[in-house]
Amino acid sequence: MPTRLLLVTASPRGEASESLRLAGALVDAFRDAGGGEVDVLDLFADPLPAFAADETRAKMAVIGGEAPTGAAAVAWEEVLALGARVAAADALVLAAPMWNATVPWPLKLFIDTLTQPGVAFGFDPEAGYQGLLGGRRAVVLATSAVYAPGVPPAFGIDFHVPYLEHWLQMCGFGPIDVVRLQPAWPGDPSLDAHREAALAQAAALGRELGRAPAAAAAAAGGLG
Ligand SMILES: Cc1cc2nc3c(=O)[nH]c(=O)nc-3n(C[C@H](O)[C@H](O)[C@H](O)COP(=O)(O)O)c2cc1C
Repeated sequence: MPTRLLLVTASPRGEASESLRLAGALVDAFRDAGGGEVDVLDLFADPLPAFAADETRAKMAVIGGEAPTGAAAVAWEEVLALGARVAAADALVLAAPMWNATVPWPLKLFIDTLTQPGVAFGFDPEAGYQGLLGGRRAVVLATSAVYAPGVPPAFGIDFHVPYLEHWLQMCGFGPIDVVRLQPAWPGDPSLDAHREAALAQAAALGRELGRAPAAAAAAAGGLG
């Protein structure tokens, strides 16, 4: 069975977007290598509902061992639907711009919606969190205009990739690969060369994922 990808994008910049360009290179190579379905969740074009009163009531009810009721039950169904969409994929690709040192707000909303007990994690008071989305690879396509690894703090601090890596690990994803186009300062004479290198890296990962056996979704049979 061919591998299935879930591509989650978080840039509203269309053709100007560096992270969407990287995602395009990955997906093209994935398809060329024989990969299967690519489910695209564009978080700006297709926004998730706010994770607000009903959603938090549902989450806390489930944590307390109770079934959500009323509007919270309706909200929980949407949360479970997102969980099923992620669980159906063998690999998760996050096209993730840096916004103010971390992820854009719709990507944080995606994380807040998906990270639920029984969906993305279990919790043991002795052992801590246990990821429930294991057996799935993840790729982070990270872009930023100013920040780059190793820059002095005046150029930014990375609460972006380390945060995403932590969250992915907590949910059980692995291995996790990161492609960085950082910095992507418009007009920088070295940007074209850096972009070519990042596009090649994204394409190589796409090829690798396209050739890989579809392990996760088949083995896990959905959530958990
Ligand atoms: C709201 C906003 C906040 C941003 N914050 C940062 C930042 O903290 N550090 C940085 O280096 N670049 C920052 N940038 C620049 C983007 O990270 C950069 O343009 C990147 O290419 C965005 O990805 P995209 O091209 O896929 O949209 C910001 C851009 C926007 C629109």
